[in-house]
Amino acid sequence: MGRKLLPLPAISTSPPSKHRTPRYLIYFFLGLLFLTWNGIIDPSSVALSSKGRFQKCSIDRYLSTGLPFLDTAHPPPLQEFILRRNNLAQALVDDGIDAFVVEPGYTFSYYANTSQFDWEPWEEYGSIVANTSFLVPHFEEIRARLLNMPFIKPISTMTYEEHWDPYTTLWESLIWGDKLSPVLMVDEEMRDFISRGLANNGFTVLGLGGRVEEVHQIKTEREIGILRAVNTGTVEAIRAMRKCLYPDVTSNEVVEVLDNTLRAGGLTPFFNIVEFGRQAALPHGGHDGTTKLQSGDFILIDVGAHLYGYSSDVTRTFFPPFFPRSPFTPQTPRKNITEQISVWHLVLSAQSASVKAMVPNATAASVDIAARNVIAAAGYGDQFAHRLGHGIGIKAHESPYLNKGNYVSVLKPGMMFTSEPGVYVLEEFGVRHEDVLVVREEGEAENLSGGFAEGPWDP
Ligand SMILES: *[C@@H]1O[C@H](CO)[C@@H](O)[C@H](O)[C@H]1NC(C)=O
Ligand SMILES: *[C@@H]1O[C@H](CO)[C@@H](O)[C@H](O)[C@H]1NC(C)=O
Ligand SMILES: *[C@@H]1O[C@H](CO)[C@@H](O)[C@H](O)[C@H]1NC(C)=O
Ligand SMILES: *[C@@H]1O[C@H](CO)[C@@H](O)[C@H](O)[C@H]1NC(C)=O
Ligand SMILES: *[C@@H]1O[C@H](CO)[C@@H](O)[C@H](O)[C@H]1NC(C)=O
Repeated sequence: MGRKLLPLPAISTSPPSKHRTPRYLIYFFLGLLFLTWNGIIDPSSVALSSKGRFQKCSIDRYLSTGLPFLDTAHPPPLQEFILRRNNLAQALVDDGIDAFVVEPGYTFSYYANTSQFDWEPWEEYGSIVANTSFLVPHFEEIRARLLNMPFIKPISTMTYEEHWDPYTTLWESLIWGDKLSPVLMVDEEMRDFISRGLANNGFTVLGLGGRVEEVHQIKTEREIGILRAVNTGTVEAIRAMRKCLYPDVTSNEVVEVLDNTLRAGGLTPFFNIVEFGRQAALPHGGHDGTTKLQSGDFILIDVGAHLYGYSSDVTRTFFPPFFPRSPFTPQTPRKNITEQISVWHLVLSAQSASVKAMVPNATAASVDIAARNVIAAAGYGDQFAHRLGHGIGIKAHESPYLNKGNYVSVLKPGMMFTSEPGVYVLEEFGVRHEDVLVVREEGEAENLSGGFAEGPWDP
């Protein structure tokens, strides 16, 4: 277990005039960010308890694949960060906004590689360039520079003394020219007191929206490569782990072993929901994790991990390997296995329908509805109570959102989504299949999570 202390930034930009180099400012506020991580358990040190054997089996199976899916992941180079900031600058010009302001967090890491603190003076790229600045207390300026954020030139800082008002320092900056009330767009992760501080000190403050919000939605092939690796790697870890399950294992033990399997492959798990049988009728669980796995229980696992800062988010529902494919009856008469299997295939059909509907120029609503119609036609409409999916990238959940009311968002090539239809029969069982897809120029969306599930015994 370790802790790393990081400063916080913020981004802004300003619009171009005809005869000057356009300038787009990105301001970073100083603050603190804590990152924590857990140590990797060395499998050889685990005693040969049932859980120890389970973990060794799972990790060995995962590693024996050779982890070929990692080959598509390469960390984004400096040029990718410059491109992102210049895309942001273009979006600000398009929407008539003077600057974008961001604090450390996911958005900051997207534009300036988190653990760093940046300001982009100017880099030639296309016709509009980002001008990024860091607003920092004077005594922190050197620490900000030591972060080595991805900029070509030394970062530009704007400093204030602790007894000054930082909003006034920002407002008095020459970058605003003779504008009386520069228009700032604040990131969605911005703390409320900073937004109010800016608004109370001469700025016009807008919430995240318009083209600026769209910048992160279209992924580059490099980003797609990382997202493919982390999502495929997560599904493959579930598949490896599944083969090692044994009767009476608890869901807490499955969480621990799956997390350690992901870590053994170089992925960093950040959430992991494991539900057995009737527990899965609550889409996101809520039980204490001590329930034991029984033959005939469906296991629903919804798990996410990080690789180079990008997220996976996948779900698989399946029978344990010790539950025979047929006959279903022996020790499990209390459950209607026939219905569970038919719902499993129904949810897969709904997911397939959504993938076919996930094409350029479709509305987000139409993709949700394509899946929903399949489930409703089979009489389970009321048992699919959540949206179909969401965008995914640096954040596991990001816009656009695939829900039946979202007629505003239109799909574009390079957008990435989860498709995660489900059917939840209260007190009985739940089924959800979740995969990650990218919208392509031609045809239906491409799967990025190692291929869809094939059957209740072949997730
Ligand atoms: C970027 O902004 C800084 C400070 O606001 C300013 O000093 C610098 O000249 C700007 N650079 C460009 C290329 O506009
Ligand atoms: C981004 O940060 C990571 C982790 O600190 C580092 O390994 C990588 O080199 C950085 N990327 C760039 C382009 O600076
Ligand atoms: C089990 O489910 C199937 C398919 O939904 C249904 O036809 C059958 O009547 C159910 N059986 C019982 C015992 O409820
Ligand atoms: C999507 O819409 C745009 C703009 O209306 C159009 O240029 C493009 O050809 C359309 N793409 C497809 C695949 O229909
Ligand atoms: C998933 O996509 C790959 C191409 O990226 C394709 O080869 C594979 O057949 C697809 N799998 C499914 C189940 O559609």
